[in-house]
Amino acid sequence: MSAHLQCARCGRRYPVLDRRYRCDCTGTLDVHHDLSKFKLTTADLDARRNTPDPLNRSGVWRFRELILPLSEAEMQAAVVSRGEGNTHLYEARSVGTEVGAPNLWLKHEGENPTGSFKDRGMTAGISMARHLGMTRVACASTGNTSASMASYAARAAMGAVVFIPEGKIAYGKLSQALAYGAQTIQIQGDFDDAMALVQELCAQEGIYLLNSVNPFRIEGQKAIGFEILQDLGWRVPDWIVLPGGNLGNNTAIAKGLLELQEAGLIDSLPRMAVVQAQGANPLYTAWTQGSEVKPIKADTIASAIKIGAPVSWRKSMRGLRALDGVVTEVDDNQIMDAKAIVDAAGIGAEPASCATVAGLRRLVSEGVIQSNETVVGVLTGHLLKDPDAVVGYHSGSLDGIHALRANAPIQATANVDAIRALLRE
Ligand code: F0G
Repeated sequence: MSAHLQCARCGRRYPVLDRRYRCDCTGTLDVHHDLSKFKLTTADLDARRNTPDPLNRSGVWRFRELILPLSEAEMQAAVVSRGEGNTHLYEARSVGTEVGAPNLWLKHEGENPTGSFKDRGMTAGISMARHLGMTRVACASTGNTSASMASYAARAAMGAVVFIPEGKIAYGKLSQALAYGAQTIQIQGDFDDAMALVQELCAQEGIYLLNSVNPFRIEGQKAIGFEILQDLGWRVPDWIVLPGGNLGNNTAIAKGLLELQEAGLIDSLPRMAVVQAQGANPLYTAWTQGSEVKPIKADTIASAIKIGAPVSWRKSMRGLRALDGVVTEVDDNQIMDAKAIVDAAGIGAEPASCATVAGLRRLVSEGVIQSNETVVGVLTGHLLKDPDAVVGYHSGSLDGIHALRANAPIQATANVDAIRALLRE
């Protein structure tokens, strides 16, 4: 199928395999697929799920005609996959009841190979890097992108350089970048500083940039939406709710759903709600004021979304408008309370993911989301990504957080009678 890159700001077009991440006007780029010859049906996509072909079994590459603008043979040669996707869509009635929306489903993207939704974009980005003959890749990250890139680069035998804000990323994520062998550069600054640096470095050194400013990362992340629809038997939910940081993920899901509709695989669209942390809310501010996004200094316990200058804001707003979307914000206490609910339901996720459920609660209480509507919330990262946040919460040691649902560890002497007494309490 033919495709081109197109600037989200001025509309200028470029050849799809041009190695560029921005337009000459500095706007970000989209991959535009010509879907006029798209032939697959939902039945074809369902059949692929049950075949032994590894590409068909991946929750990204099953949808490959909508992901990379390459031929089947080129994809078979280029794809670097860890069998990503195929994450569980939990029926989450107990969580939903607690926040006022019982018809809640939670798509747990923390069940991807490196524990976050980033693997979907990364398999696409690294595969494109291989197709283009790149040998080194780089990214800036609040942790999950670097964990994912480090793993996929190792699988592809490419050099990986990650830039992370020193002391500000969760330990699970830092461990992964180190373990998978990435050159890990801790910079004195925040994510936004790291993001500015890595763009400059990649341009100067000819390293392939794998942040979500890379349009092929976005193409892979679209598969979250595709899989949600497939999991639901192609019934369109009323809402998809997800957290927003650098704003690549909501951009991707909206773009993918619009393409599914254009390809005739669905005949309506869900609405979309993006939830930001109050201390990292540039999209919320811009959306409610009807202005452009202005960078801020970000601060939140949800370190994954501690981002003040989101790269994809323009594309994000475009997707939100197309899906009749809303943007809301929640504070750190609301995030951690929602996390305690998600965790205690036996599902569990990292703090940023639980902004989804905190935001849902707020939107239901404001009457934006109706309690009888079907909602799919995206949990973006695994509970074990940030064990410090969990232990800190339950032992009541997180600054400024009222741990209303704390399940503190209990001290006991190593004596059966003493412990029996404790259990009877
Ligand atoms: N949830 C988690 C767990 C994340 O790691 C991120 C982003 C988001 C939500 C927000 O997604 O940026 O597409 O709006 N993490 C990036 C990283 C920035 O470097 O891992 P977004």
